[in-house]
Amino acid sequence: MISKPKGCYDIYGTNAKKWQYVSKIIDSLMEKYNYGYIRTPIFESSELFHRGIGESTDVVTKETYDFVDRGERKMTLRPEGTAGIVRSYVENKMYGDAIQPIKLYYNGTMYRYERPQSGRDREFTQFGVEVLGSNDPMVDAEVISIPVILLSMLGLKGVKVKINSLGDKESRDNYRKALIEYFKPHMTSLCEDCNDRLEKNPLRILDCKVDRENELLKNAPKTIDYLNEESKKRFEEVKSYLDELGIDYEVDTKLVRGLDYYNHTVFEIEASVEGFGSNNVLAGGGRYNGLVNTLDGPETSCIGFACGIGRIIQALDLEEVKLPIIEDLEVFVMYVSDTEKKYASSLVQYLRGNGFRTDTEYTGRGLKAQFKQADRLNSKYLIILNDEDLKNDEVKVKNNKTKEEALVSIDYLLYYLDEHLMDEDYDMDECSCGHDHNHDHECNCGGNCNCGGHNEEI
Ligand code: HAM
Repeated sequence: MISKPKGCYDIYGTNAKKWQYVSKIIDSLMEKYNYGYIRTPIFESSELFHRGIGESTDVVTKETYDFVDRGERKMTLRPEGTAGIVRSYVENKMYGDAIQPIKLYYNGTMYRYERPQSGRDREFTQFGVEVLGSNDPMVDAEVISIPVILLSMLGLKGVKVKINSLGDKESRDNYRKALIEYFKPHMTSLCEDCNDRLEKNPLRILDCKVDRENELLKNAPKTIDYLNEESKKRFEEVKSYLDELGIDYEVDTKLVRGLDYYNHTVFEIEASVEGFGSNNVLAGGGRYNGLVNTLDGPETSCIGFACGIGRIIQALDLEEVKLPIIEDLEVFVMYVSDTEKKYASSLVQYLRGNGFRTDTEYTGRGLKAQFKQADRLNSKYLIILNDEDLKNDEVKVKNNKTKEEALVSIDYLLYYLDEHLMDEDYDMDECSCGHDHNHDHECNCGGNCNCGGHNEEI
């Protein structure tokens, strides 16, 4: 038997429904925020990530999946989405579009050769957004608010938002100098990688996975003390917009993030639910005002974030949030013998075409086994076809819960099913919160989301 690669997963069954549900909420949220969907290649030239993410980052030095293609080109499976989107922004000259800023979102697989552990996979899926072409602090707050609102819509309660500012180039350079001065006399107590990082990029030392618990890191200079007046003022403005939006946050002066392109605002959202382990960051991002320029485009102010969908689902599972995923059928079409089989196949197509979640028997089992299959599929209604009824243009319809049966004329079948399924509250309308509401206007998220539309007219 051939096994899947280490750190990769097959997503199927109920788990796949959760993934689809999360993606559906993301799409509906992004539509409301007016962010356009973007899909970039899963592999790009290696140079993009080396220049974009930074030569001194763990991601680039240790974690990329690199290969040489048949045309001798050096390629890399994307470890994150931002560099590819910036490449696309420059290549497609989006900076020249009439509508600015460019607001984009993506949802796709990323690849990092990590030591597999809970929450750290080699293939994982990120939902992320990037806003290119605005330096307004209002945008920083909007971008931070997106994962906060998403997690709340999904019903997650234990989340913590941490923010910090790395400041502009001058502030970052001053901070860099302060870190080198601080760490230099103590390098023997730090790991080999950190020794390497000291001159190349001392900020990375603060983000080291090996030295994380070292007291030296805990007492290191704080970014906030090296911000110049302009950067300080900007950070204050971001915070005041967050207050305006009602987003709770804490300032974490040690937060620097693991990729090189950041300046000014950086942020992370942590799951605080018990049992998550150390890889509990659900979303992370920040401003990267120099990256477009580094990748041969014009000076452009940008900000974005990405979150790991796998980690979000893990957090939802740990908090035992019940997602409103569909795990039943509306109609299961059964047939007494092969005589009715052809009719069954066209009836199933007809019902599906008219919007009913319908399935049927495919393996030639007898009626008894078909009843069992219908139960396993949680079918609300059964249609049991037999030749005699069909001759009269009728079918037998059975409520699989009450066991009530009715002989229904084919002409009337759609109305019959519609009416009876309606009675059981299966008529759902999509509300602005992204959840479905039944005809009593109760949101079916179980009261977890913040749409304000629970039990209200929509
Ligand atoms: P990142 O912090 O490397 O940032 O990743 C963002 C999120 O992706 C993490 O918070 C985590 O939820 C998830 N993630 C990362 N690595 C793994 C992994 N190995 N297994 C499972 N989940 C993982 C970025 O990728 C930046 N591109 C974010 C960004 C966008 N900054 C600006 N724009």
